Amino acid sequence: MKKIIIDCDPGVDDAIALLLALASPELEILGIVTVAGNVSLSFTEKNARKICELANRGDMKVYAGCPRPILRSLETARHVHGETGLQGVDLPEPQMPLQRQHGVEFLIETLLQASEPITLATLGPLTNLAIALIQAPQIIPKIQEVVLMGGATGQGNVTASAEFNFYVDPHAAHIVFTSGLPLTLMGLDVTHKVLTTPERLQQIRAIASPVSTTAAAMLAHYGAYDVEKYGMLGSPLHDPCVIAYLIQPELFLGRNLHVAIETTSELTMGRSVVDLWQAGQQAPNVHVIQQADDEGFYSLLIQRLSEL
Ligand code: BDR
Ligand code: CA
Repeated sequence: MKKIIIDCDPGVDDAIALLLALASPELEILGIVTVAGNVSLSFTEKNARKICELANRGDMKVYAGCPRPILRSLETARHVHGETGLQGVDLPEPQMPLQRQHGVEFLIETLLQASEPITLATLGPLTNLAIALIQAPQIIPKIQEVVLMGGATGQGNVTASAEFNFYVDPHAAHIVFTSGLPLTLMGLDVTHKVLTTPERLQQIRAIASPVSTTAAAMLAHYGAYDVEKYGMLGSPLHDPCVIAYLIQPELFLGRNLHVAIETTSELTMGRSVVDLWQAGQQAPNVHVIQQADDEGFYSLLIQRLSEL
């Protein structure tokens, strides 16, 4: 079992990622930390608890981390995920408690006490991890790897240049990308190839369990936005790619490249500058995923959702 901590901002695709992780015996989830991103922190922490309870995992520990990016004001993606972050469903108020400890403190304490390095799966803006790295750089050797959803080599989904997670907190992303940590990046180049087509949505719905019915309802709403905006066949499942990589890395293919994050130009704020040809002659600092077996991904997801 791989020991992981998930840092997320649910969000519909974060919610599907949490369900995939909770259904996967390969992963031992030590805790779920939330951050402001798709919606405000009060929604993301509550949504994480709602999803745990939907999966009958009220025993999970959910922590609230940072309520805003390091320097910039919070910009949300309510237009994509809905006012609550989980539009399309009305899940009951969670009964499980929010942990009292701050998410950043939990990260630091858990890493420092760990006997073996821990993998971090980050699905939202990188504020919590960046603050943890500043507060306690001694956590670095305790981190096996960070698998992140964010960025792209040549496109943006919130501006022409930038992907949402890096745009929201580019300074946090910069801190993480210059930390020397082993990083694996799941960007839009690959997540835009992992689409919930109407057929796949129907397969999820056809499981006909409370979990799959809820997942399908959320995805139907979330998909409508992407189909209209990008003319895609369905919604990209960005964040679940991170979890699928931790379970079945053979579904993905990538290259080691140098990546830097833009933090000064308003025009390209938050852009992940990926040096595809080593033009800048800087040593690679990121394993950039470029291809995914989307059929394999959906059969994994559908199989795991049917087990919840
Ligand atoms: C990322 O932004 C968020 O809206 C999604 O949850 C995902 O993490 C995609 O750009
Ligand atoms: Ca997310």
